[in-house]
Amino acid sequence: MHKQMFDPVCRELEMVEGNLNRNINSGVDILNQASIHLAKAGGKRLRPAFALLAARFFLDNLEQVIPMATALELTHLATLVHDDVIDNSVLRRGTYTVKYQWGNRVSINAGNYIFARALALSASYQRRDILDVLAQASMRICEGEIYQMMSSYNVDVGLKNYLRRIERKTALLISVSCKLGAMIGGAQAAQIRALELYGYYLGMAFQVTDDILDFVADEEVLGKPTGSDIKQGVITLPAIYALKHSPDKEELRHLLSSPDLCSAQSERILDLVLSSDGVDYAYWVTEHYARKARKELDNLPDQPVKSTLYEIADFISAREY
Ligand code: IPE
Ligand code: IPE
Ligand code: MG
Ligand code: MG
Repeated sequence: MHKQMFDPVCRELEMVEGNLNRNINSGVDILNQASIHLAKAGGKRLRPAFALLAARFFLDNLEQVIPMATALELTHLATLVHDDVIDNSVLRRGTYTVKYQWGNRVSINAGNYIFARALALSASYQRRDILDVLAQASMRICEGEIYQMMSSYNVDVGLKNYLRRIERKTALLISVSCKLGAMIGGAQAAQIRALELYGYYLGMAFQVTDDILDFVADEEVLGKPTGSDIKQGVITLPAIYALKHSPDKEELRHLLSSPDLCSAQSERILDLVLSSDGVDYAYWVTEHYARKARKELDNLPDQPVKSTLYEIADFISAREY
């Protein structure tokens, strides 16, 4: 993500950064190390940025949003630590995963530990509504991961299953990042709703792009390996399209429904998907969601931060990492 896009909140993002690196003070050093490892590796800080940008519409001083912005990144980090166990991933954010470096047992504890830190920060608001929103989103993420697991190697999954999966897995946390920023900023109900929907549509566009990048990205730029969805039988939008429209769809069905073939013949599968219009179709879908996100901004006050949210909507489907 271009850093200057977050300009209206860059000072506050520095404070979030400080919190992420500083507040880890477990007496058990391995938990400190594992937690700090991923936080230090970077990442786009999209979720804290959204919370801060949403609050910027209503507040000049964003101090009270900082703990929530930190909690949102921690929640995201916790899901990544566990996701890399689930996906058996070696690289994340251009460095080794916690899973690779410390193994499953430490990863499970480190993920729980990071998530509990997020809860502690959220509880400091002493607001039931805020805690509720974050808890609901965290529950949905688990559902999304399970839906994905249950539908892998299933060549009959359609668009609906896919959209439900990515909504849970990714879009809702981005949506609540915007929503919580607005709630803490003291926005009115209709404005909170507009920002929640903006985040939702953008979150959908974001995950579709993530799935496209797994087919087309440069691994160096992306900071994680490509082709990993196919290798695990995770059938995402470009493949769903190809399964329906490719002239070689019978071969594709055969390959994608077998765990052995998915890993042994991933190159062939990638070729088949890339030679269908699946990637173009998926880009069209990201555009559709980005357009819906932009439209929600009509319902928000004319503040300078609005142009930033427009820019992010433009950027999200063009990103390369
Ligand atoms: C990665 O999220 C996992 C998905 C939900 C696609 P990001 O792409 O936001 O990861 P970082 O935080 O920049 O590493
Ligand atoms: C990660 O999904 C989603 C969550 C963080 C729950 P993916 O497995 O698609 O993301 P990457 O590709 O590992 O970042
Ligand atoms: Mg995954
Ligand atoms: Mg993964």
